[in-house]
Amino acid sequence: MLRKPIIAGNWKMNNTIAETEALVKDLIPLVADAKCDVVICTPYTDLAKAVELTKGTNIKVGAENVHWAEKGAFTGEISAKMLVELGVEYVIIGHSERRQYFGETDASVNMRTKAALAAGLIPIVCVGETLEQREKNRTKAVIRKQINGAFADIPEEDAKKIVVAYEPVWAIGTGKTATDEQAQETIKNIRGMIAHLYGRKFANRLRIQYGGSMNPKNVAGLMAQPDIDGGLIGGASLKAEDFSKVVKY
Ligand code: PGA
Repeated sequence: MLRKPIIAGNWKMNNTIAETEALVKDLIPLVADAKCDVVICTPYTDLAKAVELTKGTNIKVGAENVHWAEKGAFTGEISAKMLVELGVEYVIIGHSERRQYFGETDASVNMRTKAALAAGLIPIVCVGETLEQREKNRTKAVIRKQINGAFADIPEEDAKKIVVAYEPVWAIGTGKTATDEQAQETIKNIRGMIAHLYGRKFANRLRIQYGGSMNPKNVAGLMAQPDIDGGLIGGASLKAEDFSKVVKY
């Protein structure tokens, strides 16, 4: 297999420690025989509990953001080293909600990605266009800028660890999934942009997920597309049954 599929849950700002305990305990047996990589990205406060509960299982744990500095006077922020010491292995970077509400830019995405890689975390770098951008036929240009920004000055040996998540903003939490064809088309384009940066062979090995209202009903069609290597799952990752069905598409 050239690219092992990876399905990651993005819990966003959901679940207390007690709720994490219940959800993860339900999830463990349901996904134990999954053929893809399984990741749950949780709020910072749930990470230690999630790592503890998933030890020895096939579930890996990720954070939802990371700061770019090693340490210092950044009140409220969390460094990559802090995450690694907890046993966290993945981190979502540049999610559209962070771009929209918290001033995330392509430059800060790049800095966070470099810091994550330097510490040994696997970054899940999110890109995607808004509805307005799609309607104005700007999807490709917008995503090219995001991809070039995120990967700027990252050498091939590091860049190969990155997972890209294509999440059309209009499909996130709206119940409006991109069609299989729309998702495939854009993800194929993203692979082309990566090939432009690092060569075709490299691009053919990089994993690119789809995200945006992915659920048990539409997962099979999306995963059947030749360039789609997994999913970043919001709403459907909050219920063990639903998430396990996505993971075992
Ligand atoms: P959704 O969220 O599955 O609820 O649309 C996906 C995401 O934002 O990562």
